[in-house]
Amino acid sequence: MVGEGSDSVFGKILTIMTSETLDQGQMSCEEIRKNIQKYVDKWRNVEGSLIMVLHDIQEDIGYVPREWAMEIGKALDIKLARIYEVLTFYHYFKLKPQGKHSIHVCTGTACHIKGAPAILEILKTQLGFNVGETTADRLFNLDVVRCVGACGLAPAVVIDGEVNGKSTPEKIIEKVKSLQS
Ligand code: FES
Repeated sequence: MVGEGSDSVFGKILTIMTSETLDQGQMSCEEIRKNIQKYVDKWRNVEGSLIMVLHDIQEDIGYVPREWAMEIGKALDIKLARIYEVLTFYHYFKLKPQGKHSIHVCTGTACHIKGAPAILEILKTQLGFNVGETTADRLFNLDVVRCVGACGLAPAVVIDGEVNGKSTPEKIIEKVKSLQS
């Protein structure tokens, strides 16, 4: 696992993620390679090492940048296409930086019937959110899910892991605004 000092990968990425102008591309290939090697060394010779490496990176920096996926491929001798098969199969893995707060609007049948489309619509039109995207200020990311197991409370919206049952557009806007302040 990476260290916690200012030179750690986490420290570097945190700096990068809080900057408006920098992104993963600012880290040189050499730096990325060095960091990847730490994860690879940790899981070398372990069955399922690819998943474990991806999991650690996601845990530490919140997503798996493309440049990192490429270096993982070289280090583990795995084709990039195979790595993306894994990354896109599991919803847990993110390919882009995530917002501080996550919003998941359930669009399963029960929630759809009870008003999920109106909630999505107001998040888009009033707050400018887009499904699958993180806001420019990196405060929120909006996603849809197909049933969160709370159909009796439809429509359900999960905000930062908390299920908000019997949601209305007004309640969700209010909740989001409280997180903005
Ligand atoms: S359909 Fe939304 S919680 Fe089941």
